[in-house]
Amino acid sequence: MIEFYNVSTRIREQMILKDVTFRLVKGEFAFLTGPSGAGKSTILRHIYMDVMPDQGMVIVENYNSAKIKEKEIPMLRRKIGVVFQDFKLLPDRNVFDNVAFALRVTGVKGREIRRRVMRVLAEVNLGHKRNQYPASLSGGEQQRVAIARAIVNNPFIILADEPTGNLDAATSLEIMQILEKINRQGTAILMATHSQEILETFGHRRIIVRDGALRP
Ligand SMILES: Nc1ncnc2c1ncn2[C@@H]1O[C@H](COP(=O)(O)OP(=O)(O)OP(=O)(O)O)[C@@H](O)[C@H]1O
Ligand SMILES: [Mg+2]
Repeated sequence: MIEFYNVSTRIREQMILKDVTFRLVKGEFAFLTGPSGAGKSTILRHIYMDVMPDQGMVIVENYNSAKIKEKEIPMLRRKIGVVFQDFKLLPDRNVFDNVAFALRVTGVKGREIRRRVMRVLAEVNLGHKRNQYPASLSGGEQQRVAIARAIVNNPFIILADEPTGNLDAATSLEIMQILEKINRQGTAILMATHSQEILETFGHRRIIVRDGALRP
C-alpha cells in the first residue's frame, strides 16, 4: 500500500533522505519519529508526491513515483488525508464549508456533500459547531475540523504531521483517541511526532528517522 524502495532525495543540493526503505501495510497505524530536521515531514511529502525521489521509488496504492504523470497527482491526493500541526483551516469559511471544500473540488453534488460533511462532523463530535468560524474554536476543535476534512473523501490513509504539536496534553489525548477510532474503522495512519508521552501511551510501530535515514 505504501512502499519506499531505497529512496534518496536532495533538496537544493543537500541530501535530505538517504536510502530510505520501509513498507506500510493496509490499515496500519505507525509513528514517524526522530529529532527535528531528521526528515519526517519530507517522508510524508513524498507520499503525497509533493517531493519526488532522486533515486529509488515511492509506491502509493497503484501509483509509482517513477511513473506517475503530473496530471494524476490530484487523483492520488484525493486518496490521502493530511493533517498538520497548525490545522490549516480557511479562516473566512465556517466549519461546514471548511470540510465541504474538499468535496466540492471533486464534483460531489449538494445533497451528498451535506450528508457526508454532517457524517464526518459527527465522527469528530462537532456537528453542533458547523456554523462557527475557525477563530471561535479551541485548538483541539480546530484540529477536529481538520481531521473531518481529511477523512471526508474516504482516504485509505491519513498522514498526520505533528497533529498534537500545538495542543495541551489532555487535548492531545482526545485527538489521539479520534485518530485511533478512525484507524479501527480501517484507515491507515502515519503520524510524525516528537511526543514521548504519545509514543509510550500508544504502542504503535515506530519508524525512527535520523539525519535522513531510518534507524532500526
Ligand atoms: N524546502 C526545503 N528547502 C531546503 N531544505 C529543506 C526543505 N525542506 C526540508 N528541508 C531540510 O530537510 C531536512 C529535513 O526536514 P524535515 O522538515 O523533513 O524534518 P522533520 O523531521 O520533519 O523536522 P521537525 O521535527 O522539526 O518537523 C532539514 O534539514 C530541512 O532543513
Ligand atoms: Mg516536520
